Amino acid sequence: MPYDVPYVPSPEVVVRRMLQVSGVRPGEVVYDLGCGDGRIVVMAAKEFGARAVCVEIRNDLYEQTLRRIKELNLDNVVKVIHGNFFEVPIEDADVVTMYLLTSVNQMLRPKLERELRPGTRVVSHDFEVPGWKPILAEDVYEEWRSHKIYLFKIPGAEIPIPAQTQVSVPSEYSDIVKLLDGRRSIEEIAQKTGLTMRRVREIVNELEKLGVVKEVKVIK
Ligand SMILES: C[S@@+](CC[C@H](N)C(=O)[O-])C[C@H]1O[C@@H](n2cnc3c(N)ncnc32)[C@H](O)[C@@H]1O
Repeated sequence: MPYDVPYVPSPEVVVRRMLQVSGVRPGEVVYDLGCGDGRIVVMAAKEFGARAVCVEIRNDLYEQTLRRIKELNLDNVVKVIHGNFFEVPIEDADVVTMYLLTSVNQMLRPKLERELRPGTRVVSHDFEVPGWKPILAEDVYEEWRSHKIYLFKIPGAEIPIPAQTQVSVPSEYSDIVKLLDGRRSIEEIAQKTGLTMRRVREIVNELEKLGVVKEVKVIK
Protein backbone atom coordinates (compact mmCIF):
# COMPACT_ATOMS: atom_id res chain seq x y z
CA MET A 1 0.00 0.00 0.00
CA PRO A 2 1.25 3.51 -0.76
CA TYR A 3 0.51 4.54 2.86
CA ASP A 4 3.38 2.29 3.88
CA VAL A 5 5.95 4.87 2.80
CA PRO A 6 7.58 5.65 6.13
CA TYR A 7 8.17 9.18 7.33
CA VAL A 8 11.83 9.97 6.74
CA PRO A 9 12.57 13.67 6.30
CA SER A 10 14.90 14.86 3.53
CA PRO A 11 17.94 16.65 4.97
CA GLU A 12 17.97 20.41 4.43
CA VAL A 13 20.87 20.25 1.98
CA VAL A 14 18.95 17.76 -0.16
CA VAL A 15 15.75 19.84 -0.05
CA ARG A 16 17.64 22.94 -1.21
CA ARG A 17 19.30 21.04 -4.04
CA MET A 18 15.98 19.49 -5.16
CA LEU A 19 14.50 22.97 -5.47
CA GLN A 20 17.63 24.35 -7.15
CA VAL A 21 17.91 21.63 -9.80
CA SER A 22 14.23 21.95 -10.63
CA GLY A 23 14.79 25.69 -11.17
CA VAL A 24 11.94 26.89 -8.95
CA ARG A 25 11.21 30.57 -9.59
CA PRO A 26 9.10 33.14 -7.73
CA GLY A 27 5.40 32.69 -8.38
CA GLU A 28 5.72 29.08 -9.49
CA VAL A 29 3.74 26.37 -7.73
CA VAL A 30 5.50 23.44 -6.04
CA TYR A 31 3.62 20.29 -4.95
CA ASP A 32 5.25 17.98 -2.41
CA LEU A 33 3.54 14.59 -2.55
CA GLY A 34 3.81 13.13 0.96
CA CYS A 35 5.14 16.28 2.58
CA GLY A 36 5.90 15.08 6.12
CA ASP A 37 6.76 18.08 8.31
CA GLY A 38 6.47 20.46 5.35
CA ARG A 39 10.17 21.25 5.08
CA ILE A 40 10.14 21.25 1.25
CA VAL A 41 7.15 23.56 0.89
CA VAL A 42 8.50 25.87 3.62
CA MET A 43 11.84 26.26 1.86
CA ALA A 44 10.14 26.62 -1.54
CA ALA A 45 8.12 29.54 -0.18
CA LYS A 46 10.78 31.19 2.01
CA GLU A 47 13.90 30.82 -0.11
CA PHE A 48 12.49 30.53 -3.62
CA GLY A 49 9.41 32.78 -3.48
CA ALA A 50 7.20 29.95 -4.69
CA ARG A 51 3.65 29.05 -3.78
CA ALA A 52 3.28 25.47 -2.63
CA VAL A 53 0.90 22.64 -1.92
CA CYS A 54 1.74 20.03 0.71
CA VAL A 55 -0.17 16.73 0.66
CA GLU A 56 0.16 14.48 3.70
CA ILE A 57 -1.86 11.42 4.69
CA ARG A 58 -0.75 11.08 8.32
CA ASN A 59 -2.92 13.11 10.64
CA ASP A 60 -0.17 13.95 13.15
CA LEU A 61 2.16 15.23 10.42
CA TYR A 62 -0.65 17.13 8.72
CA GLU A 63 -1.57 18.89 12.01
CA GLN A 64 2.07 19.64 12.80
CA THR A 65 2.71 21.08 9.33
CA LEU A 66 -0.47 23.13 9.37
CA ARG A 67 0.58 24.69 12.71
CA ARG A 68 4.08 25.40 11.42
CA ILE A 69 2.80 27.07 8.25
CA LYS A 70 0.53 29.32 10.34
CA GLU A 71 3.33 30.19 12.79
CA LEU A 72 5.57 31.15 9.88
CA ASN A 73 2.78 33.27 8.36
CA LEU A 74 3.02 31.28 5.17
CA ASP A 75 -0.65 30.30 5.05
CA ASN A 76 -1.29 32.73 2.20
CA VAL A 77 1.28 30.96 -0.01
CA VAL A 78 1.30 27.35 1.23
CA LYS A 79 -1.77 25.11 1.18
CA VAL A 80 -1.68 22.00 3.36
CA ILE A 81 -3.96 19.15 2.31
CA HIS A 82 -4.77 16.23 4.57
CA GLY A 83 -5.24 13.38 2.14
CA ASN A 84 -3.98 10.73 -0.22
CA PHE A 85 -1.91 12.18 -3.05
CA PHE A 86 -3.42 9.65 -5.46
CA GLU A 87 -6.71 11.49 -5.00
CA VAL A 88 -5.50 15.10 -5.12
CA PRO A 89 -5.52 16.95 -8.47
CA ILE A 90 -2.01 18.11 -9.37
CA GLU A 91 -2.41 19.75 -12.78
CA ASP A 92 -1.59 23.20 -11.42
CA ALA A 93 1.98 22.20 -10.48
CA ASP A 94 5.07 23.72 -12.09
CA VAL A 95 7.28 21.46 -9.99
CA VAL A 96 6.45 18.21 -8.17
CA THR A 97 8.75 16.93 -5.42
CA MET A 98 8.67 13.38 -4.04
CA TYR A 99 10.55 11.31 -1.50
CA LEU A 100 8.64 8.03 -1.67
CA LEU A 101 9.65 4.60 -2.99
CA THR A 102 10.33 3.30 -6.50
CA SER A 103 7.19 1.12 -6.27
CA VAL A 104 5.05 4.13 -5.30
CA ASN A 105 6.61 6.27 -8.04
CA GLN A 106 5.66 3.52 -10.47
CA MET A 107 2.05 3.63 -9.28
CA LEU A 108 2.05 7.44 -9.45
CA ARG A 109 3.48 7.56 -12.96
CA PRO A 110 0.16 7.29 -14.88
CA LYS A 111 -1.30 10.13 -12.78
CA LEU A 112 1.77 12.31 -13.34
CA GLU A 113 1.65 11.64 -17.10
CA ARG A 114 -2.09 12.28 -17.30
CA GLU A 115 -2.33 15.42 -15.19
CA LEU A 116 0.95 17.34 -15.45
CA ARG A 117 1.43 19.81 -18.27
CA PRO A 118 4.37 19.56 -20.69
CA GLY A 119 7.45 21.17 -19.23
CA THR A 120 6.51 20.44 -15.60
CA ARG A 121 9.55 19.35 -13.61
CA VAL A 122 9.39 16.33 -11.31
CA VAL A 123 12.18 15.84 -8.80
CA SER A 124 12.56 12.70 -6.75
CA HIS A 125 14.84 12.08 -3.79
CA ASP A 126 16.59 8.70 -3.92
CA PHE A 127 14.01 6.86 -6.03
CA GLU A 128 13.65 6.75 -9.80
CA VAL A 129 10.40 6.78 -11.70
CA PRO A 130 10.52 3.45 -13.55
CA GLY A 131 10.36 3.94 -17.31
CA TRP A 132 11.28 7.63 -17.23
CA LYS A 133 14.70 8.91 -18.25
CA PRO A 134 16.04 11.54 -15.85
CA ILE A 135 17.44 14.73 -17.38
CA LEU A 136 19.74 14.90 -14.38
CA ALA A 137 20.86 12.47 -11.69
CA GLU A 138 23.03 13.97 -9.00
CA ASP A 139 24.60 12.83 -5.76
CA VAL A 140 24.28 15.10 -2.78
CA TYR A 141 26.60 14.43 0.15
CA GLU A 142 25.34 14.92 3.62
CA GLU A 143 27.14 14.13 6.88
CA TRP A 144 26.92 10.36 6.89
CA ARG A 145 25.54 9.29 3.56
CA SER A 146 25.00 10.34 -0.02
CA HIS A 147 21.61 11.00 -1.52
CA LYS A 148 20.50 10.79 -5.11
CA ILE A 149 18.38 13.42 -6.78
CA TYR A 150 16.58 12.59 -10.03
CA LEU A 151 15.13 15.35 -12.18
CA PHE A 152 12.55 14.65 -14.88
CA LYS A 153 10.62 16.87 -17.24
CA ILE A 154 7.16 16.06 -18.61
CA PRO A 155 7.57 15.82 -22.38
CA GLY A 156 5.38 17.44 -25.01
CA ALA A 157 4.45 20.99 -25.87
CA GLU A 158 1.65 23.51 -25.60
CA ILE A 159 1.40 25.56 -28.78
CA PRO A 160 -0.70 28.71 -28.90
CA ILE A 161 -2.34 29.07 -32.33
CA PRO A 162 -2.89 32.72 -33.28
CA ALA A 163 -6.26 33.80 -34.65
CA GLN A 164 -6.28 35.38 -38.10
CA THR A 165 -8.04 38.55 -36.94
CA GLN A 166 -6.17 41.75 -36.05
CA VAL A 167 -7.05 42.85 -32.52
CA SER A 168 -5.31 45.57 -30.53
CA VAL A 169 -3.77 44.25 -27.32
CA PRO A 170 -2.41 45.88 -24.15
CA SER A 171 1.22 46.91 -24.77
CA GLU A 172 2.48 44.63 -21.98
CA TYR A 173 1.46 41.64 -24.09
CA SER A 174 2.95 42.82 -27.39
CA ASP A 175 6.28 40.99 -26.99
CA ILE A 176 4.41 37.72 -26.58
CA VAL A 177 2.05 38.42 -29.47
CA LYS A 178 5.07 38.88 -31.77
CA LEU A 179 6.28 35.40 -30.84
CA LEU A 180 3.02 33.63 -31.66
CA ASP A 181 3.55 31.83 -34.95
CA GLY A 182 1.60 28.61 -34.49
CA ARG A 183 4.85 26.63 -34.08
CA ARG A 184 6.53 28.06 -31.01
CA SER A 185 5.61 26.41 -27.75
CA ILE A 186 4.86 28.10 -24.45
CA GLU A 187 8.17 26.76 -23.18
CA GLU A 188 10.08 28.38 -26.08
CA ILE A 189 8.25 31.67 -25.59
CA ALA A 190 9.11 31.52 -21.88
CA GLN A 191 12.78 30.95 -22.72
CA LYS A 192 12.85 33.84 -25.20
CA THR A 193 11.12 36.32 -22.88
CA GLY A 194 12.64 35.19 -19.58
CA LEU A 195 9.14 34.72 -18.13
CA THR A 196 8.04 31.55 -16.38
CA MET A 197 5.90 29.12 -18.37
CA ARG A 198 3.18 29.82 -15.83
CA ARG A 199 3.21 33.55 -16.63
CA VAL A 200 3.25 32.91 -20.38
CA ARG A 201 0.25 30.59 -19.98
CA GLU A 202 -1.62 33.30 -18.05
CA ILE A 203 -0.94 35.86 -20.79
CA VAL A 204 -1.89 33.39 -23.51
CA ASN A 205 -5.18 32.77 -21.65
CA GLU A 206 -5.83 36.53 -21.64
CA LEU A 207 -5.00 36.67 -25.34
CA GLU A 208 -7.45 33.84 -25.97
CA LYS A 209 -10.18 35.87 -24.25
CA LEU A 210 -9.26 38.88 -26.39
CA GLY A 211 -9.52 36.75 -29.54
CA VAL A 212 -5.81 37.01 -30.42
CA VAL A 213 -5.20 33.33 -29.74
CA LYS A 214 -7.57 30.83 -31.31
CA GLU A 215 -6.61 27.81 -29.21
CA VAL A 216 -3.70 26.17 -27.41
CA LYS A 217 -2.75 22.80 -28.90
CA VAL A 218 -1.40 20.38 -26.34
CA ILE A 219 0.92 17.71 -27.72
CA LYS A 220 1.81 15.01 -25.21
C1 LIG B 1 9.81 9.76 3.11
S1 LIG B 1 8.61 10.89 3.75
C2 LIG B 1 9.06 12.39 2.90
C3 LIG B 1 8.63 13.66 3.60
C4 LIG B 1 9.02 14.96 2.85
N1 LIG B 1 8.54 14.96 1.50
C5 LIG B 1 10.50 15.14 2.84
O1 LIG B 1 11.12 14.91 1.78
O2 LIG B 1 11.06 15.50 3.90
C6 LIG B 1 7.13 10.34 2.89
C7 LIG B 1 5.84 10.95 3.41
O3 LIG B 1 4.79 10.58 2.53
C8 LIG B 1 3.61 10.37 3.31
N2 LIG B 1 2.70 9.54 2.48
C9 LIG B 1 2.85 8.23 2.15
N3 LIG B 1 1.85 7.81 1.35
C10 LIG B 1 1.07 8.89 1.15
C11 LIG B 1 -0.12 9.11 0.39
N4 LIG B 1 -0.68 8.11 -0.33
N5 LIG B 1 -0.68 10.35 0.39
C12 LIG B 1 -0.12 11.35 1.11
N6 LIG B 1 1.01 11.21 1.86
C13 LIG B 1 1.60 10.00 1.87
C14 LIG B 1 4.15 9.69 4.56
O4 LIG B 1 3.24 9.79 5.63
C15 LIG B 1 5.45 10.49 4.79
O5 LIG B 1 5.23 11.59 5.62
